[in-house]
Amino acid sequence: MEKLLEVKNLSKVFTVGTLLFRVKITAVDNVSFQVGKGEIFTLAGESGCGKTTTARMILGFEEPTAGEIIFEGKSVREWKKNRRDFLKRVQAVFQNPFESFNPLLTVDDIFFETVRNHKIRTKGAESYIDEILKIVGLSFEEIRGRYPSELSGGQLQRASIARALLSEPSLLIADEPVSMVDASLRMSIVNLFGELKQKMNLSVIYITHDLATAYYVSDKIAIMFKGNVVEMGPVEEVLTRSKHPYTRLLCESIPEPDPEKRWEREISIADTEYAEYLRTGCKFAGRCPEAQEICRTVVPPEISVDGVLVKCHIYGEKRG
Ligand SMILES: Nc1ncnc2c1ncn2[C@@H]1O[C@H](COP(=O)(O)OP(=O)(O)O)[C@@H](O)[C@H]1O
Ligand SMILES: [Mg+2]
Repeated sequence: MEKLLEVKNLSKVFTVGTLLFRVKITAVDNVSFQVGKGEIFTLAGESGCGKTTTARMILGFEEPTAGEIIFEGKSVREWKKNRRDFLKRVQAVFQNPFESFNPLLTVDDIFFETVRNHKIRTKGAESYIDEILKIVGLSFEEIRGRYPSELSGGQLQRASIARALLSEPSLLIADEPVSMVDASLRMSIVNLFGELKQKMNLSVIYITHDLATAYYVSDKIAIMFKGNVVEMGPVEEVLTRSKHPYTRLLCESIPEPDPEKRWEREISIADTEYAEYLRTGCKFAGRCPEAQEICRTVVPPEISVDGVLVKCHIYGEKRG
């Protein structure tokens, strides 16, 4: 598959805590992955594991502490000189669609303005907007003269995906795009990513803490834990034959005959705040049912097992 985005050894250090207790945490810790053209790549993990920070660095909203991001053959640092073009090629959709639309403008005005800003199709803008809206299951008629508050959350999230598509991007970064949408509508919105990939050869970075939607739509998935990618590979392999003890815990191999229900639970394991970031060795060792001495002292290597990358001593040689 042709490469669109490459993230190499990306790290971000933040200083967190109160005045009396300040610590440096590596919110994104030496993360590497590639996204191919027309590929849906999912970043999954519990809240606080570093998904949004990774996305913000790719978008250029946050400066990496270390590492490199290469998009369409050019580093994001180079793209900074041509920010306008970069933001046409890479678009983002966020969790709350009501926050990403100006409440004082009608949705159609916002669309016309976006078309003008991107300097695309000033003639026939309405039919172009209608065409894009139809792709996401809406139409111009449905948004004409209406304010964001007059649409439902699901409709508005579809509209925000449509707005992101107006500039004909090659990469869409969707950060928890359905976590505020009614559960019954989530799948239909996530399925749009599959359609966009088919119809427009769009690549998507789908960020979520919900493994059920991730399972159905992703090609590849990376499971993050406290800033590290602990397991990464084809989604079927990672979620049904999980190798890392953390992924196994998330997926819990309870045989569930109804695949729709298999991962209904969202990822949530009690967060032990910042202590785990500061661990030497494997950050998961304190909660890992399979931890041994080496796990508490030595950072696990990244090992390829059946085409899946696993950051765990189980698959290393040094474990007793
Ligand atoms: N601007 C910031 N300043 C300090 N800490 C931050 C900042 N942004 C994120 N963090 C911390 O970095 C960690 C990762 O956050 P984030 O990337 O938002 O995780 P996720 O999106 O997976 O929930 C968290 O511990 C969070 O508190
Ligand atoms: Mg987030």
